Amino acid sequence: MTKKLFVKTYGCQMNVHDGERMAELLAGQGYEQTDKQEEADMVLLNTCHIREKAAEKVYSDIGRLKPLRAVKPDLRIAVAGCVAQAEGPEIIARAPMVDLVVGPQSYHNLPRLMQRMEAGEKVVETEFPPEDKFAHLPPRKPRAPTAFLTVQEGCDKFCAFCVVPYTRGAEVSRPAARILSEARALVGQGVREITLLGQNVNAWHGAEGGLAVLVRELARIEGLDRIRYTTSHPNDMDEALIAAHGGEPKLMPFLHLPVQSGSDRILKAMNRKHKAESYLRLVERLRVARPDLALSSDFIVGFPGETEQDFQATLDLVEAVRFASAFTFAYSSRPGTPAAERTPVLAEEAHDRLLRLQAVIARQQGEAQAAMVGQVIPVLFEKPGRLPGQMAGKSEHLMAVSVVGSESLRGEIRPVRVTAAFQNSLGGELVAP
Ligand code: SAH
Ligand code: SF4
Ligand code: F3S
Repeated sequence: MTKKLFVKTYGCQMNVHDGERMAELLAGQGYEQTDKQEEADMVLLNTCHIREKAAEKVYSDIGRLKPLRAVKPDLRIAVAGCVAQAEGPEIIARAPMVDLVVGPQSYHNLPRLMQRMEAGEKVVETEFPPEDKFAHLPPRKPRAPTAFLTVQEGCDKFCAFCVVPYTRGAEVSRPAARILSEARALVGQGVREITLLGQNVNAWHGAEGGLAVLVRELARIEGLDRIRYTTSHPNDMDEALIAAHGGEPKLMPFLHLPVQSGSDRILKAMNRKHKAESYLRLVERLRVARPDLALSSDFIVGFPGETEQDFQATLDLVEAVRFASAFTFAYSSRPGTPAAERTPVLAEEAHDRLLRLQAVIARQQGEAQAAMVGQVIPVLFEKPGRLPGQMAGKSEHLMAVSVVGSESLRGEIRPVRVTAAFQNSLGGELVAP
């Protein structure tokens, strides 16, 4: 009899991708995925540890499973992802309903771990085994014309605020040959756009060179039309990769390049190892290579020691760059990180800065969206739109676009005339090619 699996994922795109891979792996164990938690025989919480709020959510989610467990005593509860890695056995100590805890570098062992769980054992696995996790996972079954592909995991940067180097471990690059064969298999199943994933994706390196070499190799795959990569670090943006943005038409003109702050004092305290000015120069070089490049970033406000003047420097940087979008966060103190030892900025102060920064970013995003009206742009259609009779997809600049059109557009790249701009999406009409 097939059992039902409910997966809930938090956090970054890497975690979303891991959640999909775990579901594919468990399908081989007789678990069919469901989107209804109440149907589940096993609930897998794929967690994120990046900020306190995200990390605490797992415990309220487990609490909410109590009534289901009461009527379904055989319900299994598993915790995966970065909270699993960071807290390990403490999770079961705090929430005894949990049967299995598995870290992000061990989930390929799930079939074996689940056998122990079925035998009645409480299982915790948070090892960083040296073998290639991906070699132990079943072949991909893409369900959309766009797909993620992990090329690099882990982080050696140790920004003073961040848990990722502890939860994901040291930087590891997958070999180019494995990546290329996975990409070919995806394209063979109808994928037209691949987003290369890594915590520091542009730190990827193979025998032949850096990420630019990999992008050029991938671009030679016929049927693969769009290549993206995320998340990159400013210090790993080498000359060849900058040049690829100008010379490789399949590399899309959108780059998520987190800067975190515009104040050199704060950047230094964050251990970012770059300055505001070097970031601005990097942006300039990227825009020389690709003048229409759209940029996004992550920002933290209220980092310990941040003054109003430091925050003004962040606003100045934002004005200078003009971002197409950005993620903004109030600093959250994380146990075990160097910054957790420092005196925090008042919560109200941080919140006020967050709102002010968000207002500036929203204005820039609105301007970037509005500038598209009247243009004819290629759109890769992915799924039905919000309204009946609509199809939605993404522009090369990663903007959501919807048109009136039929399901047959799915997986097609078609020119669209943009007729309307909203804060987070564009409306348009199909143009004869
Ligand atoms: N590897 C990526 C992203 C890591 S996490 C990078 O280096 O950019 C995603 C974002 O979460 C970070 O860019 C940062 O802006 C934010 N973040 C990380 N730790 C945080 C913390 N302790 N408090 C608030 N935001 C944080
Ligand atoms: Fe975290 Fe910094 Fe590494 Fe990004 S580069 S994952 S922010 S430590
Ligand atoms: Fe969160 Fe881990 Fe990603 S902490 S942001 S799920 S790497």
